[in-house]
Amino acid sequence: MFDVEKIRQDFPILKSKIHGNDLVFLDSAASAQKPKSVIDEVKKIYEGEYANVHRGMYQLSDIATYKFESARKTVKEFLNAKSENEIIFTKGATESINLVAYSYALEFLQEGDEILISEAEHHANLVPWQFVRDKKNITLRVFKINDDGSYNKKEFEKCLNEKTKLVATTAMSNAIGTIFPVKDMVRKAHSFGALVLIDASQYIVHNKTDVSDLNCDFLVFSGHKTYGPSGVGCLYAKEELLNKMPPHHFGGDMVENVTFEKTTFAKAPSRFEAGTPAIAQVIGLKAALDYMTNIGIDNITAHKSIITDYTYNALADLDFIKMIGTTKERGGVFSFIIKGIHNQDTAFILDRQGVAIRTGTHCAQPLVNRMGLQGTIRASLGLYNNKADIDKLVAALKKVKTFF
Ligand code: ALA
Repeated sequence: MFDVEKIRQDFPILKSKIHGNDLVFLDSAASAQKPKSVIDEVKKIYEGEYANVHRGMYQLSDIATYKFESARKTVKEFLNAKSENEIIFTKGATESINLVAYSYALEFLQEGDEILISEAEHHANLVPWQFVRDKKNITLRVFKINDDGSYNKKEFEKCLNEKTKLVATTAMSNAIGTIFPVKDMVRKAHSFGALVLIDASQYIVHNKTDVSDLNCDFLVFSGHKTYGPSGVGCLYAKEELLNKMPPHHFGGDMVENVTFEKTTFAKAPSRFEAGTPAIAQVIGLKAALDYMTNIGIDNITAHKSIITDYTYNALADLDFIKMIGTTKERGGVFSFIIKGIHNQDTAFILDRQGVAIRTGTHCAQPLVNRMGLQGTIRASLGLYNNKADIDKLVAALKKVKTFF
């Protein structure tokens, strides 16, 4: 059973005092806090198990290599991929998308082809495609969402056509929390012959993410949001696709044979992992995914649903707040504004009460603008948030109101 109070004990940072108050951490969509098992694992590596991977004929390097490759197996199982060769370690979701932009889109798309994204994308799933558009003279289409922030099936399907070569969509908006029906979207996109990339950075934190079931071609996520270290993330891609794609970075560990005249490249995953990887971070990511698996993804999802409903209702009950994105098909990310009060003033006053939230455009400026705003206040949940956190947020917001 999921016991949030017990879970909270696993996160040392939650015992922090901020300006003399208990920390209420509501910015997990930006980066999540780390359980002790992850912190301990990273410490253990640096204290007794650290060496470079794939290169040394000595015990420490063997241990590091074994642990590093075990992490790949863990990600494979976490995502239900078919093979460990389908898991590429990157710096994060952003680098994973850039990899697909360079090694797939720049390589295989032709003038006149189309890439389709949604209005709800993070800059990481928009700007790389603008770059490809400008380099390759392709069309970048953006399908509309509804005014309440929900997915619009008609708009998506209207934009698909035989020129669509790639659909790149979020599974859950980092700015307003909307969940997209990505499995249906994959099926529809495939019927037009398009490949599909899913940005699962937010979705995977709270929901089972099964690439075999989704049948997506690419899926990306960041380790720091799944309670792991920063500086590591993953690209999942179907193996046959990866081995057709040329490498995007060049150097050691990604080669088969090198002469001064010519180099041949290793197969995936090595061909996309040039140079010394983020060894400790990758092993820390394994500890984070093990942590989630041990709790049980279904338990995490059930807790998320309870706290999401509780938060949404608590915020919606405040008459001085305007929710931005009101769809029920949502995860634990809530954007809102307080009429007549600047978002940054709110953030400052909340911080003085120990409540950490984010303000601004959340790296999704076109989405926030499309919702008619220049910025919002965003509260976002991790598996450690309880109802008391939300009550403290509400009390802190009421206090903000007393200052104006
Ligand atoms: N992508 C992160 C966020 O949504 C940084 O805040």
